[in-house]
Amino acid sequence: PWGTPLQPGIPEYTGDPTTRPTAAHQADMIGIGHDGMWFFPERARGRQSSQSGILCINHEFGRNPHVLGKHSPENLEDVRLSQHAHGVSLVELEERGGQWRVVHGPLNRRVHVNTPVAFSGPVVASPAGRELLDLNNRPHDARGTVNNCSSGHTPWGTYLTCEENFNGYFGATGDWVATEARQRYGFSKNGFGYGWEKFDARFDLSSQAFANEDNRFGWVVEIDPQNPVARPVKRTALGRFKHEGAALTEGKDGRVVVYMGDDQRFDYIYKFVSAENWRTMRARGASPLDEGRLYAARFNDDGSGEWLELNIDNPRLAARFANQAEVLTYARLAADALGATPMDRPEWTCIAPDGRVYCTLTNNSARSEADAANPLAPNPDGHIIRWRDSEQHTGTAFAWDIFLIAESTHGTADTFSDPDGIWADPDGRLFIQTDGNQLDGLNNQLLVADTGTGELRRLLTGVSGDEITGLAVTPDRRTLFCNTQHPGNGDPTRT
Ligand code: FEO
Ligand code: CA
Ligand code: CA
Repeated sequence: PWGTPLQPGIPEYTGDPTTRPTAAHQADMIGIGHDGMWFFPERARGRQSSQSGILCINHEFGRNPHVLGKHSPENLEDVRLSQHAHGVSLVELEERGGQWRVVHGPLNRRVHVNTPVAFSGPVVASPAGRELLDLNNRPHDARGTVNNCSSGHTPWGTYLTCEENFNGYFGATGDWVATEARQRYGFSKNGFGYGWEKFDARFDLSSQAFANEDNRFGWVVEIDPQNPVARPVKRTALGRFKHEGAALTEGKDGRVVVYMGDDQRFDYIYKFVSAENWRTMRARGASPLDEGRLYAARFNDDGSGEWLELNIDNPRLAARFANQAEVLTYARLAADALGATPMDRPEWTCIAPDGRVYCTLTNNSARSEADAANPLAPNPDGHIIRWRDSEQHTGTAFAWDIFLIAESTHGTADTFSDPDGIWADPDGRLFIQTDGNQLDGLNNQLLVADTGTGELRRLLTGVSGDEITGLAVTPDRRTLFCNTQHPGNGDPTRT
């Protein structure tokens, strides 16, 4: 839980306000708002352990009343406490006699809003791109990750944490310029009310000293769990949007393919394909996530689909953007220009063993016009879409269908709404997690579906006020880790 010390000598947070952590202690404790995660097994003598390893946990958000015990920060210490509760925890775990416990091991680590990070990929390859990230003026102070929603993991053993609603942590204490891009990404004077901008100018949209800090968030960030001193790396080739998650698979010729949702009403599904075989790229010292092509999805009504490449060589993008760095930094605007299909809030994606890709579309109460891929208007309960890509995930054509409409389960024993987390096991079971109001007095839940027959069964329900999210398994699949985010929604008596 939130407040678990990751190092010896730090007092535990018990939920009693008198034990509320200091900002410094929170930087060495598990954060709040657990979301996506993955288990990295310990490897010994060529075997992967299912009894010990590192669990990487995203900490998506924590409201001020919950974290600080008040609605607004009153000083920088309050802001730092809030910031340190966000980010990622890496924690060593071991199982003995059927019980898992935290180990105060050397790989325990917190990555939070003030952790030094690096940028990599096409945006930093040119002076124009470095300007977008203000790296020409401020090359050495790149810091932090925030609103870490879902996640991914690479075949080379690293963790990907995805920055979703980063816009809400910025505000403005004075005049600020609401550019078209800032509007498209949802920046506003008061953000989500965290109030960081009042004491930390980095999150003040009106601060000249921190110009373009907003462009430094909204990326997929790679973390090496085995190297606690390595900087997390923001992979700009994967584009900047409200990243929900990142599902990886190996495509044709060993290229790595990453599927990603942008969770906003009427936003898009994306994929990235590496330039070459990932092993070849790593052998020459390149990251497979730094060179490749980024696409947004168009779902045609006839069940076909097309991946639209976000490339400055396309005249429609060249007419609007100065260079590829702008295309990637303002990927939403680029996908708008190409005519990608506005979806009903794309959340997690996953790849089933038969090669089909699944994506949860959690809901869209604002939809007034249906299309074949988003067939309900409005869509209060969500659906799951799936597709099969050409050329083993690397092509630009796909064929899609709708796997499940949540509303169709209503009235059954396995009713659910608002699909969000999704993961397919190697036998083709599809694990589905929910985040939203469930019917029949149910709390949020974890279900499992058979991808062949569509048969659905409920595995567990959560507690009052929570969201069920985050899923990780040991290699032997005898342990499944699952998160309950914001149990009680800030009120411990509701759990
Ligand atoms: Fe972080 Fe869209 O859920
Ligand atoms: Ca989610
Ligand atoms: Ca959600």
